[in-house]
Amino acid sequence: MALSTDQDVAVVGGGAMGQGIAQVAAQAGHHVRLYDAAEGQAEKAKAALVKVFARLVEKGRVDQAEADAILARVEPVAALEDLRASALVIEAVVERLEVKQEVFAKLEAICGADTILASNTSSLSITAIGRTLEYPGRLVGMHFFNPAPLLALVEVIAGLASDPDVVESVYDTAANWGKSPVHATSTPGFIVNRVARPFYGEALRAVEEGAADPATVDALMCEAGGFRMGPFALMDLIGNDVNYSVSSAVFEAFNYDPRYRPSVLQKEMAQGGLLGRKSGQGWFDYAEGAENPVPLDAEITDIAPPEAAILVGDPGPWAALFERLSKAGLSVERQEDDCLFPLLDFGPVFMGPSDGTHAEAVAEAEGKPAILFDLALDWGTASRVALTRSSHVPADDMARVAALFRAAGFTVTPVDDIPGMVVTRTVAMLMNEALDALYKGVSDADGIDTAMMKGVNYPLGPLQWADRLGHARVLEILDNLTDAYREERYRACALWRRLPSDLHFRED
Ligand code: NAI
Repeated sequence: MALSTDQDVAVVGGGAMGQGIAQVAAQAGHHVRLYDAAEGQAEKAKAALVKVFARLVEKGRVDQAEADAILARVEPVAALEDLRASALVIEAVVERLEVKQEVFAKLEAICGADTILASNTSSLSITAIGRTLEYPGRLVGMHFFNPAPLLALVEVIAGLASDPDVVESVYDTAANWGKSPVHATSTPGFIVNRVARPFYGEALRAVEEGAADPATVDALMCEAGGFRMGPFALMDLIGNDVNYSVSSAVFEAFNYDPRYRPSVLQKEMAQGGLLGRKSGQGWFDYAEGAENPVPLDAEITDIAPPEAAILVGDPGPWAALFERLSKAGLSVERQEDDCLFPLLDFGPVFMGPSDGTHAEAVAEAEGKPAILFDLALDWGTASRVALTRSSHVPADDMARVAALFRAAGFTVTPVDDIPGMVVTRTVAMLMNEALDALYKGVSDADGIDTAMMKGVNYPLGPLQWADRLGHARVLEILDNLTDAYREERYRACALWRRLPSDLHFRED
């Protein structure tokens, strides 16, 4: 059962997160006591909230009386003992296990038996934090995202010892506070920090392997993949040091499973102080007036697009793309085939979606030069497409196909022939990670997709996206990546092979 607003909430740690969490709870109507071990920090957090509300009043988001009432409910206190009367204490102190254990041990001695204890940890095990408690059942994870007042996601994390009633109570309370809570188990990275790893990891590999530069990868992920922010711009925003240390923590927590191995390129950036926005230079230059690289576009020629092609196989999720190409003047004749990935045969060369392998390998298998195109979230609206080719595709044929995409309204980006190109490999790996989290019971399909959409703004949940692309195709892409690299990193979750072919994780 959710807390009622006449029950008091406490926040321990008045840093960036504690301040935001205190704001959320006070806005929801609770009296909130805020404690920080550093002298004056709780008052500082309150003073910062006064400024936040002055701005909100100025913008007309809240009226003065409401702002005054909310601020009056936030009470900085000088001692942990002052939190005695709380129904819920949310801890947001430094990310160190011993410090958090000590805070909770003290709280257990101070607060009543009914007080719920919650940790905002982003990477530590809730089971481990609760280990030193006399009654670990009262501890759960309540993982807010930064900035807490703006981001709706709250991961409600159950440790092995967490009492289910306590978990439900925190979940319902977060929902009453206007948040979008999701259930998660205490596993490395919980949902978001685990499932999101390939978003950075595959982008970094594409650059390491020389397939494309950061500006080009970002443009593809946004203008084809539909993501609101490219991975490199996001790493610069988070900080390469912070992003690298989260990746390292997840890698270590999974006992160094190679699929989570962090990037040596990002390590080099972090060690070199190229942290991103906060240091003024990361993947991009943030100095005033700095000129940043632009995404690579294919050279525009006056070569005319091809006029006709045979579409071999079912258009499946690419139907809207083939429609766009037809509208641009391509006459398409259909040929039945039960292949998973359709092909457009232009005669001397053919073209198909990336299936996770090299264009060179596809060309060898088909006995004809191959052009591959990368994945898009929505083929009806995508404004950019990446193309790659096997070595025997004549330059003029490549230019013809590029002209066709341009005629259909795409900006064309050439990328080197790496398996799974840029968007395909990243999204397939996000889907794989999401499925593995489902398989291991971290959360349910709705919880995982909601977490990725509300916590990191993904345009679509990875599991729903897998429904749209087709589970058999996702598995094929992952298996092809594994074959191409011979690396554990790309191993497909066992559940892909066990799913009934008509199953959908989410309703579309
Ligand atoms: P911060 O460094 O801004 O604030 C931490 C505050 O805790 C400081 O004011 C410090 O004086 C205080 N503190 C340290 N030890 C204390 C103790 N024993 N008792 C009381 N107060 C103590 O850190 P931030 O970013 O607010 O993070 C806090 C927690 O939230 C960490 O566990 C972090 O992993 C987690 N988190 C952080 C996110 C972020 O984006 N910054 C996002 C989600 C979770």
